[in-house]
Amino acid sequence: MTNKVLYFVCVAVLAVQFASAAFGGVRQDDVEQSVETVLSRLTLEQKIGQTWQCLGREMVEPASGDMSGEKLKESFLAGVRAGRYGSVIGKWGVENYNAIQRAAMEGVGIPLLIGSDMIHSAVTTYPIPLALACSWDESLWERVAEAMAAESLLQGCNWTFTPMLDVALDARWGRIAEGGGCDPLLTGLMGAAMIRGLQGEDMTDGLHIAACAKHYVCYGASLGGRDYNAVELSDDTLRNTYLPPFKMAVDAGVATVMPAFHSYNGVPCSMNAYLLRDILRREMGFGGMTISDWEAVKELVKHGTAADEADAAAQAINAGMDMEMVSSCYAKNLATLVKEGRVSMKTLDDAVRNILRVKFRLGLFDHPEIDKTKVTAAVDPAANRALAREAAQKSIVLLKNEADTLPLTSGAKVALLGDVAASEWQMLGCWSTKDLSKFENATLLDGLKADGVDVVYTEAYTLTGRVDTVAIERAVAEADVVIAAFGDYWEKSGEGASSSKIELPGEQLEAVRTVKACGKPLVAVVFGGRPMAFPVLAELADAVVMAWNPGGCGGWGIADVLIGAAEPWGRLTVDIPRTTGVCPLFYSQTTTGRPVVIDKSNPFGRRFTSCYNDVEPSALYPFGFGLGYTTFAYSGERAEVCGDVVVFSADVTNTGSRKGSELVQVYVRDEVAKIARPRRELKGFKRVELEPGETRQVEIKVPVNSLGYFVQGRYVVEPGRFTAWIASDSDHGRAIRFSIK
Ligand code: BGC
Repeated sequence: MTNKVLYFVCVAVLAVQFASAAFGGVRQDDVEQSVETVLSRLTLEQKIGQTWQCLGREMVEPASGDMSGEKLKESFLAGVRAGRYGSVIGKWGVENYNAIQRAAMEGVGIPLLIGSDMIHSAVTTYPIPLALACSWDESLWERVAEAMAAESLLQGCNWTFTPMLDVALDARWGRIAEGGGCDPLLTGLMGAAMIRGLQGEDMTDGLHIAACAKHYVCYGASLGGRDYNAVELSDDTLRNTYLPPFKMAVDAGVATVMPAFHSYNGVPCSMNAYLLRDILRREMGFGGMTISDWEAVKELVKHGTAADEADAAAQAINAGMDMEMVSSCYAKNLATLVKEGRVSMKTLDDAVRNILRVKFRLGLFDHPEIDKTKVTAAVDPAANRALAREAAQKSIVLLKNEADTLPLTSGAKVALLGDVAASEWQMLGCWSTKDLSKFENATLLDGLKADGVDVVYTEAYTLTGRVDTVAIERAVAEADVVIAAFGDYWEKSGEGASSSKIELPGEQLEAVRTVKACGKPLVAVVFGGRPMAFPVLAELADAVVMAWNPGGCGGWGIADVLIGAAEPWGRLTVDIPRTTGVCPLFYSQTTTGRPVVIDKSNPFGRRFTSCYNDVEPSALYPFGFGLGYTTFAYSGERAEVCGDVVVFSADVTNTGSRKGSELVQVYVRDEVAKIARPRRELKGFKRVELEPGETRQVEIKVPVNSLGYFVQGRYVVEPGRFTAWIASDSDHGRAIRFSIK
């Protein structure tokens, strides 16, 4: 053995001994004790290191957006060994991930949390969350999240910043794409299912990752629907509308929570002790860690609530922010702040405890590295693409189907129009991995061809450009039916993509009118990451399909629904407005003293009601709405209070000629309360599959306790009169009454 080799062997042996000596005795099965053991051996600098999530792309050579395969900087690895970072952000690939964890274990002995935004895509691109929500399908949400967990490990991440639990009432807000829509219950159910899928029963099994509930809280209420904007909101509305999904996430065991960028009633969420300590920790019982949003601690200076970065660090950690993402206010200032007494050692220790606890829950001390063989064996790319196709099928919402235009008649000649119909890229969404080269993705054109449709594609127009009417006329002349793609590009929604207009951009209506003038049936497939206002399209098209951003396998999923191989399963989880000016528009608006009365025979009838002069404030398509290929009728709706549950039941009949499934929804209104309450609130739902002519009694049990609300910080369930609707959407149904004694 040469001297050099001998030297490296000695260093390696010493490193292993150091690692085990460093935290010998930490026990995965006694997390709290192990957290204390680790904490007691850390220096002040190492504790501060745990609170920093550094920016990954600066840690590789050359600096890159995707760090897998890139060379890790020696200075970075030295920092990891020294315990300078508790976490890094980015996609590293398994090899780099393992190299980072090896360096950490050789050095300070504490593995890193390695996080990235695997929102609807890690390897396979699934539909955007808003689309997935429309499936109203907890099993699907959980399966997609579980598939994403293993795929995220393959990308070199043990932590993802999802689910987004921001109730979104305003279609102008671009981030409406990233969450479950406008309903607290549905958003919470989807979030909890995703947390179960991502984290599994046991996060130490090497196939699951830590989830992050974000953006805490009421980010979706930003003024004017403008991203990052301030939020002014009563405490009652905060508790009744925006907090419930986070409570459901905490109850589902979410490992981490990310406070939002904005200020709530003047106090930025990143330094809001009321939100982070009083509500999240004390009231909700959250025991995991909090991570700031990207540079949000530093942004406290721009908010004008911190004098400088040191002040920002002190305010954030004192308010309960455990880890800082990207900016380095903690790393640069905490040592001085602790010495000066502006941050107590206990506060710092508690933050580190919360961080270490997540690392133990993930089993990282025992298995810091990803077992690539195990994870690769667990990821079946074909099965995941099939899942993405199923997810697309179930996310699509059929909004109109005049004269049974859909499903397409077998053998019909189809003219397919519009740039998005043949664009692989435009099937993706705001958080796609965007790596089209490696994976098979399908356009709508591909999907129709794969399903055996006789289809001829002509671009004829782009969503934002000019319309070639001659090309449309030529294409339509040869066809029996026209399918045309409308809406907006996916880049127009998501973070930092709010819009002051949600109408169809460009000259799309010109394309609609040209097709209509040719006298052929028009199927409009609308793409986009937000509800758009398209009353003219809705009137002129024979069928309208809301396809959202359906993901890499979206083309197949949409085609399956258009030909009837899959039934239209999706139901809206947002209201579709008639025009931008009515935003925010949501079905659960508070009752007023002058409710809207729309009397078509009397144009002045709406005067002095809570209305507009020029447009109905009702939805073009309401929350919960979506057609199938058959029809259903409801009868015998009843509500019976049995102890601590209300049993809602109805006889649902399939009145059409095809087998199909109906999403039975229960809405409730509290008729007399201490504060004005929503005109309707979703309280439960159940899907039922029925043969033609079949009737089934559907029963939905709702806990009496869930019929209450917060007033002045207190949750009350008041005896009294309630109205309920058991219906297929939030605007219809026969009102039935019941009372709580
Ligand atoms: C977004 C978060 C995201 C984070 C990390 C921020 O700009 O608001 O949702 O998780 O970046 O990429």
